[in-house]
Amino acid sequence: MSSRPLMSSFYDRVSHIMPEAEWLSHEDDFLAILELKRARNAVILAHNYQTPEIFHGVADIVGDSLALARKAIEIDADVIVLAGVHFMAETAKLLNPGKTVLIPDMEAGCSLADSITPEDIELLRQTHPGVPIITYVNTSAAVKAVSDICCTSGNAKQVVESLGVPKVLMIPDEYLAQNVARETDVKIIAWHGHCEVHELFHAQDVRDLREAYPGVVVLAHPECPPEVVAEADFAGSTAVMSDYVGNKKPARVVLLTECSMSDNIAQQHPEVEFVRPCNLCPHMKRITLSNIRQALEENRYEVTVDPAIAVAARRAVERMLAL
Ligand code: 13P
Ligand code: SF4
Repeated sequence: MSSRPLMSSFYDRVSHIMPEAEWLSHEDDFLAILELKRARNAVILAHNYQTPEIFHGVADIVGDSLALARKAIEIDADVIVLAGVHFMAETAKLLNPGKTVLIPDMEAGCSLADSITPEDIELLRQTHPGVPIITYVNTSAAVKAVSDICCTSGNAKQVVESLGVPKVLMIPDEYLAQNVARETDVKIIAWHGHCEVHELFHAQDVRDLREAYPGVVVLAHPECPPEVVAEADFAGSTAVMSDYVGNKKPARVVLLTECSMSDNIAQQHPEVEFVRPCNLCPHMKRITLSNIRQALEENRYEVTVDPAIAVAARRAVERMLAL
């Protein structure tokens, strides 16, 4: 039986952002993944930065880091494939340890996660005794394990204020910490990690965009430098930016974040004009339909967390989720 009717029915999900010939070029992998998901009782969790054929095609659950963590807890399937980066897969494993968690490419890392080690945290504790450490989820499980509580870009201010203390350490994203500091009276001590994608945006880019595209609404991810966020109209996590576009439906918008984000939202809002300067995350882009298929065929690469680390790391993540 021809698979074309199935491919064509799925094409409606990406028709605004992808030529049909491009969609059809994914046919082999796409159909194989649908079958493998069924055969292996697997679900695919995809971050908002995944390419449209993953995000709108094979993913079962999509979202920002916070949503993916929350959803991971509820998953009943035997296998979770994390279409995203390594810390996201580790977080899913921490929260649902009985499942097989696969990441299609072990090299899908994150410059923030690479910027700090558990030893750095111990030094920070010695330098700032008694100051709680809030750790962005974009970190290894080993770093989470020596932290007090986690946060994401979607709840960072809420986490800071929940602790009821005058001073906190927020690691490792310096810009996220500085952006939250502008919105709270709590004193925030930052680390010097940066997202290699969002640090490339500059305040002058915002001015240039406003001049070139009159009326454009500028949305920025809080991993952008504070001077960029200050000139933007709104800042929020990837899910919060998506909600902003859905609720306000600006005539013209630019998202200062990873490139796939605009593609994925544009499909849902054909009436909105998306202006497209963006930066690619090389880690997110390591995930493809082809290696998702291989992950399911060959059960690779399984993400595990040392049990000695997992208990404490899970505590920091669950403390955040309980808020
Ligand atoms: P979100 O939590 O906003 O999805 O961000 C994750 C991330 O890696 C941003 O660069
Ligand atoms: Fe890490 Fe930045 Fe890539 Fe997000 S976009 S995974 S923070 S390097």
